[in-house]
Amino acid sequence: MSSTSTMHAVYAYGSDLTALTDETLPRPTPGPGEVLVAVRAAAITAGELAWPDTWPVIPAHDVSGVVAALGPHVVDLRVGDEVYGLIGFDRNGAAAEYVTVLATDLAIKPATIDHVGAASLPLGGLTAWQALIDHAHLEKDQHVLIHGGAGGVGAYAVQLAVHHGARVTATASAADAEFVAGLGAGLVIDYTGRFEEQVTDVDIVIDTVGGDTMTRSWPVLRPGGVLIGVADPPQETAAAAHGARGVYFVVEPNMHELIELAQLVDAAVLRPVVGRVFPLADTAAAFKAQRDSHIRGKVVLEVAAA
Ligand SMILES: NC(=O)c1ccc[n+]([C@@H]2O[C@H](COP(=O)([O-])OP(=O)(O)OC[C@H]3O[C@@H](n4cnc5c(N)ncnc54)[C@H](OP(=O)(O)O)[C@@H]3O)[C@@H](O)[C@H]2O)c1
Repeated sequence: MSSTSTMHAVYAYGSDLTALTDETLPRPTPGPGEVLVAVRAAAITAGELAWPDTWPVIPAHDVSGVVAALGPHVVDLRVGDEVYGLIGFDRNGAAAEYVTVLATDLAIKPATIDHVGAASLPLGGLTAWQALIDHAHLEKDQHVLIHGGAGGVGAYAVQLAVHHGARVTATASAADAEFVAGLGAGLVIDYTGRFEEQVTDVDIVIDTVGGDTMTRSWPVLRPGGVLIGVADPPQETAAAAHGARGVYFVVEPNMHELIELAQLVDAAVLRPVVGRVFPLADTAAAFKAQRDSHIRGKVVLEVAAA
């Protein structure tokens, strides 16, 4: 346990798991517009240790916890509020007992789930929401193909697309097929096979895999369709050659979308997908499992109250 002025945190000094270091640091002080959150759970993201422009950094930018202090000019939150959110990638993340977060990047956590479930939502849920709604402008009855339907982004994309009235096809491993069908996908295709021979007339591809999967996706789109890549950027020449639109974006914190996601969770429309939970002290094992273990949904770090 740390003292009242310090905290335990995990720092990433590089992409290797051995570059993760447990440290005791001064507890941060919230600046203007920020709150200090006592972290109860944080989620990690595939590949995040390989974002070199962020090192050194406290990883895990999904947070759920309790507001412990307010910085100047924060009016919408109070000490003791249970909040969740996506911390901007230019800041330290939540693999720590405390983190300062812009108040505008947080929302009240869904009431019907615990902090572990809430921490699994922001990055994956917001990426799925922004892909489908903000960038693809999804309409009812459209046909959506989601690559990686069991993953941290894909499992939310499947559920949100179904909720918005889409016909959903997803790719996943054979082991995950039943799980993804349970999220609402009408057809689940084994990703070791040739999905392009089993699906056609797609309005929107949400590609969380990239590479060859993206290259093979263009022909399944209808003319005028859109391919949203979050793992890799679509090539403009390929999009033009297929009469389609290609979009790459980086997810952004968004309080209003977090509020909508929380409402969907509390209405039992959106299910948090937590694959594995590790204590903060086992952060390196959590990253290893995320990378190596074919985990469904998100890997979450649970942080004991300091
Ligand atoms: N641009 C952004 O804002 C943004 C936001 C979030 C994430 N991302 C990136 O998007 C990617 C996915 O993130 P994530 O959190 O969803 O990762 P994840 O949790 O690891 O999920 C990836 C999923 O894709 C499956 N998969 C692997 N190969 C596949 C293939 N060939 N075809 C179809 N599915 C396949 C995996 O199955 P197995 O478990 O069987 O391997 C897994 O279920 C990462 O590169 C991440 O960094 C970008």
